[in-house]
Amino acid sequence: MAAKKIQKHPSNKPAAKQMGISTLSVHGGEERHKYADSVTVPIVQTSTFVFQDENDIREYTSGKKKRFEYARYGNPTTRTAELKLAALEGAEDALLFDCGMSAVSTSLLSMLSSGDHIVITSDVYKKTLQFVRNDLSRFGILNSVVPPRAEDIASAIRPETKLIFSESPTNPYVYVLDFKKLAAVAKKAGVPTFVDSTFATPYNVRPLEYGIDMVMHSATKYLAGHNDIMAGVVLGSEERINKVKMFQKTVGGCIDAHASYLLLRGLKTFALRVNHQNASALAVARFLENHPRIKRVWYPGLPSHPSHKIAKSQMRGFGGCLSFEVNSNMAGVQKFLRNLRLCQMGPSLGGTETLITHPATITYYDMTRPARLKLGITDQLVRLAVGVEDPEDIIADLDAALSLIK
Ligand SMILES: Cc1ncc(COP(=O)(O)O)c(C=O)c1O
Repeated sequence: MAAKKIQKHPSNKPAAKQMGISTLSVHGGEERHKYADSVTVPIVQTSTFVFQDENDIREYTSGKKKRFEYARYGNPTTRTAELKLAALEGAEDALLFDCGMSAVSTSLLSMLSSGDHIVITSDVYKKTLQFVRNDLSRFGILNSVVPPRAEDIASAIRPETKLIFSESPTNPYVYVLDFKKLAAVAKKAGVPTFVDSTFATPYNVRPLEYGIDMVMHSATKYLAGHNDIMAGVVLGSEERINKVKMFQKTVGGCIDAHASYLLLRGLKTFALRVNHQNASALAVARFLENHPRIKRVWYPGLPSHPSHKIAKSQMRGFGGCLSFEVNSNMAGVQKFLRNLRLCQMGPSLGGTETLITHPATITYYDMTRPARLKLGITDQLVRLAVGVEDPEDIIADLDAALSLIK
């Protein structure tokens, strides 16, 4: 499997493949001996890196000596975070960005040219779909938007198709894509696959192990995990990542060293947090499924979810996000949301604080009611992104607010 090259970097550590995910969260990608014997990775807060003399320059430009030159091209704190992420994902290499959308847009622009065609699935992140439909199309890059099923993806592939992009689990209905099937379809057609795995995280599934070619995350979410920074990452083979990196060097979108440090710090507890969030989300989903004021719950950990079977076979846990429909009208849902005392209304996920969002009035506020209903975004739909609080307290908060509505 792909983790081979990564094992070279922390040269004085045991091989990465021997380590568990909690150990990789703490030690993956890090040198054992750090600056000034520090136990943590230092923040190298600089915009440039200086040369001592002409020999220094020559050794660098001839490729003899690996070093940093200018912060848009790379930074040691950021590089350590990239190597840790690569170790966690089982990837040869990783490249960080200043947010998830930079990771998506830069990667797609580096891989596609005018006349190329991309197949993208319909329930990917709203802004990703908007970028492909409204922006890539301005540069002559064609697209087909299809349901997230291997069969639909297969039938949309054309001779000029250069990429298949999908997401799993999806938002807000948390559908899970069958990676083995998708990889088989794509390999047969000779088209690379790129998956947004933000909702799953490498704790729950590592798509590269199923034959997917590239993975991305909004590291703003579970990877950083504290609702305090923006970051994005793409992962895959050294060759594929290098191609994206060449383009990033030109267009920018690089993460700042301080944000990289906060990402590294957040990653130390990555496995602990996601393991807890998996268990809490399952407990909350089970509670809501049996609640008289809840119409329906979508969580791949529940046997009632259409993706339960594939999620069970492909994922270690089912993630921290679930959606549900409240058995009321718009006013009832708004009363429920207004009366929550622990869960807070906000449009992100994956952090320490539990966040709840009302897609109809937040994410899809700019759509007419009939248009969003067509997408399945009803007035009653709510998405919950479970944090790291005690699940009993989250459940009690939801129960108390639900008891107030008719
Ligand atoms: C699944 C998914 N992908 C990508 C993004 C974009 O990431 P960012 O907000 O870090 O730019 C988001 C943001 O919510 C997301 O949920």
